[in-house]
Amino acid sequence: MRATVKAHTNIALIKYWGKRDEQLFLPTNNSLSVTLDKFYTITTVEFDEQLKSDQFYLNEKQAESEETEKVAVFLDRVRAKANQTIYAKVTSKNYVPTAAGFASSASGYAALAAAAAKAIGLNLNERELSQLARQGSGSASRSIFGGYVEWQKGIEADGSDCYATPILDKDAWDLRVLSVEVTTKAKKVLSREGMKRTVETSPFFAGWLEAVEEDLITIKEALQEKDFTKLGQVVEANALKMHATTLGANPPFMYWQSATVEVMQEVQALRERGIEAYFTIDAGPNVKVVCQPKDEQAVQDALNVLSVVHDIHHCRVGPGIMYVTD
Ligand code: DP6
Repeated sequence: MRATVKAHTNIALIKYWGKRDEQLFLPTNNSLSVTLDKFYTITTVEFDEQLKSDQFYLNEKQAESEETEKVAVFLDRVRAKANQTIYAKVTSKNYVPTAAGFASSASGYAALAAAAAKAIGLNLNERELSQLARQGSGSASRSIFGGYVEWQKGIEADGSDCYATPILDKDAWDLRVLSVEVTTKAKKVLSREGMKRTVETSPFFAGWLEAVEEDLITIKEALQEKDFTKLGQVVEANALKMHATTLGANPPFMYWQSATVEVMQEVQALRERGIEAYFTIDAGPNVKVVCQPKDEQAVQDALNVLSVVHDIHHCRVGPGIMYVTD
């Protein structure tokens, strides 16, 4: 009753921002991401009759009780599905620079969902795993698959039509994502709390929902046509619209810091110099820059010069979940 899974993080090109059901993690809009090869989580789940409670070891240390509780709540869903009551030991290692503000919940819950399901003997397909991972963290639904992935919001109240589907294979289009870590000390509004506050209070949220539909059509055309300019423009504009909703929330909040804006402006300046690069930003100050392989070095050189840039991680399009044999 043991299984190990490796899952990669993803970056949303069209953002998931807002829930229609917080318990089931049902989003208000479809989102579209690219899975990244560089950052991943490896998780082993072992169900054991001897255990009196779930145990969670993260990065070689016993996790804090709050973290363990979240994992236990997720395992309850898996146990309920399998009609079991047996506890598990979960051992997880994050190859994600979380200390630098990069999120690991997408790869974390994708790996946990797949490993727990396999270990307990549930024979779930990728779509079912996507639905399960979604109930740990929404963006994890997309990390089950490699390449370019769309998460369908669905319309059913029980979430039965809410899962991710692959749009384009990882080898179909070789784009590069530079993950730019900026120096920061600020406290973070977690994405879960941030999107809830926005849905409940921001007058701009209605505009977001309208705009995101258009952006999804545009990006799917860009992916089909492999039109990088079309893709980049909609990616950058969509991120800006998501962040605009937070300024209208009550109380208002902002994920950007001055370092974030410096990187954004350098990306725009690069385009003026004829190097095509576009940025996107999640619920934090770091910036991801999307470009084509031929421009990767020039983008790196330009960003490296900025004193606010702490580190740059180079990512390619990554694969879906993998079962690892011990
Ligand atoms: C801004 O998936 O972390 O990164 O479902 O509450 O766990 P929960 O939120 P999470 O939110 C990600 C928000 C985002 C955009 C995205 O990844 O699509």
